[in-house]
Amino acid sequence: MKRLFASIVLIISFQTLISQENYVPTKENLEAREWFEDAKFGLFIHWGVYSVLGDGEWVMNNQNISIDAYEKLPAFFNPVDYNPKEWVAMAKAAGMKYITITSRHHDGFSMFDSEASDYNIIQKTNYKKDVLKALSAACKKEGIKLFFYYSLLDWHSDDYYPRGRTGNGIDGRADTGDWNKYISFMKAQLTELLTNYGEIAGIWFDGHWDQKEWDGKTFGKVKVDWHYDEIYTLIHDLQPQCLIGNNHHLAPIKGEDFQMFEKDLPGKNTTGWGTDASAVGQLPKEVCETINGSWGFNLQDKKHKSDKELIQYLINAAGYGSNMLLNVGPMPNGLIQSEHKTSLLNMGTWMDKYGETIYGTRKGPVAPNKDMVSTQKDEVVYLHLLGPQKDTYFIPHFKGKVKKMKFFDSGKKVKHLVNEFGLTFSVPKDANNDIDTIIEMQIK
Ligand code: GLC
Repeated sequence: MKRLFASIVLIISFQTLISQENYVPTKENLEAREWFEDAKFGLFIHWGVYSVLGDGEWVMNNQNISIDAYEKLPAFFNPVDYNPKEWVAMAKAAGMKYITITSRHHDGFSMFDSEASDYNIIQKTNYKKDVLKALSAACKKEGIKLFFYYSLLDWHSDDYYPRGRTGNGIDGRADTGDWNKYISFMKAQLTELLTNYGEIAGIWFDGHWDQKEWDGKTFGKVKVDWHYDEIYTLIHDLQPQCLIGNNHHLAPIKGEDFQMFEKDLPGKNTTGWGTDASAVGQLPKEVCETINGSWGFNLQDKKHKSDKELIQYLINAAGYGSNMLLNVGPMPNGLIQSEHKTSLLNMGTWMDKYGETIYGTRKGPVAPNKDMVSTQKDEVVYLHLLGPQKDTYFIPHFKGKVKKMKFFDSGKKVKHLVNEFGLTFSVPKDANNDIDTIIEMQIK
């Protein structure tokens, strides 16, 4: 009997392995990818009980807060001013098409009603309401798609064992644990997230890197088996259209549907986390960035990015064929800082006017450089000049026939010349736009 059971288990796990290796996205999934690439702009939300301390989402690790002490936090979390309708309206006004919210971060606290763990918002806070449920309803009403961020790493669960590189100064963590139980727990929670909240546009994994060997200089092998084959199969079985992305800072793994780049344009690797040009794959892309310097609410963070920086980041991302997921960290009362609301509104004003050069486009024919990036929709190419104004610009080896070339703002013709060396054009001073001088080109 035991042997029979073992061979059944073997067959099942073999099959799941096969199903990931040969992962062929469904029609719904491919359509969702198209939608995603067209959408271009989303809102990232980092919200958890850590917001009470106003020191970012890594506060448990950074301040070495013991498990016992941290467990006191949920009781202080009571977001009486939380209004998901307002969040969704804010995202919409910014020109965003989707929201990605943390369902459970590295602190291990579930911001949703979960039977798989009682360390959750219903059981441990006085608020006692499922904030994700309310957000999913508000999103659905307004046609905004919803993604769930889900942490693979957990500083609270005993079963997250072997531990990773982070959180080792936290007192009260267990010295034994059952990794397979931890995997089952995650699968149970993902099942809840993909069953109780309607259609979910995607799951955004994070924390893989916690289990990478690290010698202080370079990352080595991953020490554990994350069982991605089973986890990804489970997600696609539950909701075939659901896009899977994983912030592992590696080239895409089988079963994933989009690739994300944390605080970097695709292939740049200025952070040194490893996603260099060789790791850039063919899947739809998304860069994520903070609106100030923090993901979770940080009371002391004054590094609010200017409108120009934020808008140019979005344009650059599009020029790299990527979406931009811009983050805010709501306060413990459920409100979003007014400076961030203003920045989002200003981005929306820009998108109202220039959105057609971003939404629905793909990376254009000009390799992105410090002067310009390009986006393209069929036979229309948009050149986005982002650097200090120059009288003339030159695009070497420009391929394609230029039928028409005009300034997007004024509609005036752009003086240009195409020859064997490339495309040269001029930009008079009065055509310059401080954020983005856009040129619309009809090509053949
Ligand atoms: C990093 C951080 C995490 C944050 C994420 C967002 O991985 O660990 O706190 O959620 O970046 O990209």
